[in-house]
Amino acid sequence: MKVSEIRATFFDYFKKKGHEIQPSASMVVKNDPTLMFTNAGMNQFKDYFLGNTNPKIKRIANSQKCLRVSGKHNDLEEVGVDTYHHTMFEMLGNWSFGDYFKKEAIDWAWELLTKVYKLDKSRLYVTVFAGDKLDGTKEDSEAIYFWSKHVKKDEIIKCSKKDNFWEMGDVGPCGPCSEIHMDIRTDAERSKVKGRDLVNKDHPQVIEIWNLVFMEYLRMSDRSLIPLPEKHVDTGMGLERLAVALQGKKSNYDIDLFQTLIKRIEELSRIKYGASKKTDIALRIVSDHVRAISFSIADGQLPSNTGAGYVIRRILRRAVRYGYQVLEIKEPFMYNIATTLVEQMGEAYPELTNQKTLIEKVIKEEEKSFFRTLEQGIKKINLIINSYKEKKQKKMSSLHVFELNDTYGFPIDLTSLIAKENNIDVDIDGFQKLLEEQKQRSRKASEIETSDWMVIYDQKETQFVGYDNTRAETKILRYRKVNTPKKNYFQLVLEKTPFYPEGGGQIGDTGFLEIENEKIKIFNTKKENELILHYASSLPNNLSKKAIAIVDKKKRKKIAANHSATHLLHYALRKVLGDHVEQKGSLVNDKYLRFDFSHFSKMKEEELQ
Ligand code: ALA
Repeated sequence: MKVSEIRATFFDYFKKKGHEIQPSASMVVKNDPTLMFTNAGMNQFKDYFLGNTNPKIKRIANSQKCLRVSGKHNDLEEVGVDTYHHTMFEMLGNWSFGDYFKKEAIDWAWELLTKVYKLDKSRLYVTVFAGDKLDGTKEDSEAIYFWSKHVKKDEIIKCSKKDNFWEMGDVGPCGPCSEIHMDIRTDAERSKVKGRDLVNKDHPQVIEIWNLVFMEYLRMSDRSLIPLPEKHVDTGMGLERLAVALQGKKSNYDIDLFQTLIKRIEELSRIKYGASKKTDIALRIVSDHVRAISFSIADGQLPSNTGAGYVIRRILRRAVRYGYQVLEIKEPFMYNIATTLVEQMGEAYPELTNQKTLIEKVIKEEEKSFFRTLEQGIKKINLIINSYKEKKQKKMSSLHVFELNDTYGFPIDLTSLIAKENNIDVDIDGFQKLLEEQKQRSRKASEIETSDWMVIYDQKETQFVGYDNTRAETKILRYRKVNTPKKNYFQLVLEKTPFYPEGGGQIGDTGFLEIENEKIKIFNTKKENELILHYASSLPNNLSKKAIAIVDKKKRKKIAANHSATHLLHYALRKVLGDHVEQKGSLVNDKYLRFDFSHFSKMKEEELQ
């Protein structure tokens, strides 16, 4: 079965079970300040789990582009070193929002794998949650009961919280999970060591393929768990791993997509996959990373110096570094592989084909600039090494290593390599300490503590009336406190609001909330998924009383004018430069507007006119 058939079969199966098939959400997260990238299929449904919005459909299935390179779910360091992790991967998932629960999730997963995909039962292992004393959670006896209809009871593996309790982040919806693992080793190997003994032991050929999460708790900021008002199912199956099993391969990088990419890198580097462990890792890293970067660019996240853009830049540089150091490619090369990727995946993902030129250009520019960085770093390291040689010193101080890394972006392993070639040792431990100290400093500077919600009126959705009104009678539904190193404030959710939340580059409304005789200033409005949050420096004395929400009308009018002007500008740019002009970023406030777009040459004077 080809990857596309595997995906279609999954959709078909769940469609028959009453699920609506939905497209993948963007990999770049736009409406949730707690996430930079989609790291699981359930992200886009977070509001349903939290009870912020009522789901319109109770059963959904999809295939989601995920990126696990930051935050709680970060696989970056494993990628390429092993053969079954990726930065970006496709996650097949089925969801129940307050509808079916453990029985159906388990029965269907088993039926799909063993009857439809026809995987060999004797190679499958299932795990269940063993319970956790600290959390006060019990062994998942229900899951054991439902699984025991399909597999022998004593074959079911009980696992701890680390492996079998899934949490989206530090706080938020979570629950026990049940995983299905697959043993793809040869029969000879299987007869020596039982697959069961290798589950969750980081064996490259006994791997988790599907995770069934039974969402029933909410993790609070004090680490306690409270039950969710309704129970949900959230499952995730790695498409690439399933393909390995179904195509009889031994590693994710053996499936057709990656083999094509690897072949192209072999051509450019003249190094064959299989030549050595070290070069194999590099070939895997480059092929994995080029896919993640290309999809990010297509989804609108270009490399940059901050936030999500910086994460993408680091992934790209990791790949270039392996290309440079291990594959010895000393000039930009990744953009060529991106071309092959677009040819391979463009049909299933038209966004790649539409943005092909942009992807290639951006990657090439990034590579060029990183090569310049490397050149400068090499000059600097040579100066440092010469000074050590003159003084006959044999160990490079951690401060020098840190400076090379921090100021010149010079990777630590490259520093070690060049130093060693000159018979100089490097103070790695000291460097790690400095790096850790720097991390602590920046962590402190960006630490945000958010308290749990205090509910005043138990109502889920805010009614937004801001298109027609700048004023509304309302009341506070709930609030929470936010502490940051710079400032402490409150976030309020209102029953009805005329406040327009920050979005698509437009800044959030400001104004007041009048409660009895008090006037509370609203200094910003933002959105967290579907929730509109009003930022207030203080709370009114009477939280439960009727309130009037009043938007700063003058300011809103100016913002609206700039928003309209942005559309006019966009239209004009497309007319003058062509249809490739797409909004890559934008800022609209009461003073000015900014519109980011990509074009392949400098604009001419008459075009500007
Ligand atoms: N949300 C679950 C996961 O990502 C399915 O593994």
